[in-house]
Amino acid sequence: MRHLLGIEGWRREELETLLDRAEAHLPGGSARSPVLQGKVVANLFFEDSTRTRTSFEMAAKTLGAEVLNWTAQGSSVSKGETLLDTARNIEATGPAAIVIRHRSSGAPHLVAQHVRCAVINAGDGTHEHPSQALLDAFTLRRHWGKLEGRTVLIIGDILHSRVARSNLLCLKALGARVVMCGPPTLLPVGLEEMGAEVTTKLDAALPEADAVMCLRLQLERQTESFFPSTREFSRLFGLTPARAERMKAGALVMHPGPINRGVELAPAVADGARSVILEQVANGVAVRRAILEVCT
Ligand code: CP
Repeated sequence: MRHLLGIEGWRREELETLLDRAEAHLPGGSARSPVLQGKVVANLFFEDSTRTRTSFEMAAKTLGAEVLNWTAQGSSVSKGETLLDTARNIEATGPAAIVIRHRSSGAPHLVAQHVRCAVINAGDGTHEHPSQALLDAFTLRRHWGKLEGRTVLIIGDILHSRVARSNLLCLKALGARVVMCGPPTLLPVGLEEMGAEVTTKLDAALPEADAVMCLRLQLERQTESFFPSTREFSRLFGLTPARAERMKAGALVMHPGPINRGVELAPAVADGARSVILEQVANGVAVRRAILEVCT
């Protein structure tokens, strides 16, 4: 049994082994299906999700597990039940793993200290979203073979993005160059110390990238007036068809979802020939099958 609380703490060889296992979990792959037969995976989602929750559910069910889907809405959280009480009560029903998403950074780490089953972080606050980074790296690896020598440009609301942080750790560990680009107020301090190159000059950065990952403008976390409006952001940092023309031939467009169409990403680019956005989603099931296999 092992937790997946973040990319931090996982060595390169361990990440590569997990991605190799995910290959075997692709449709038609060599992985055995019922390895979780007789086990239960509990999804604990204190925040909304479409992709991550359904993907973990699909991964668990296709490995033979039963899935308990718990969401904060309709639960005793409304009566004041704490995170730890909720997690320990769910654990008492006997799951092999708890997959948890929470608005507070560190929530999965706290839960992991108080339960005996595996804890998998499905996104904690602005901290990490490790399964997203793994499926992103997996998608790139399937296109490129390896990440060494490749440049991934991550654009947008880096400040609030757990996806950006996990991707930076994962892509750097696997040998890629990572460039972060956005308005100054959405670029947190410390990115260079984590190995990123940082720029506010999108038009100069685009031609260097082998993949461009657009991030959602997280308006629900932007409580201060110094953040750009959606209109300003779209004008200065949105990936429009004209900007996509500046990309290398063959460079890929990614987005973890959900997309603010017409804000960080124009619909024509999101749905265009360069886009691997739905491949990311499809690959997420194989990657999460590998995560559940390794952790339970
Ligand atoms: N990428 C991602 O975390 O999407 P959801 O919020 O829909 O799970």
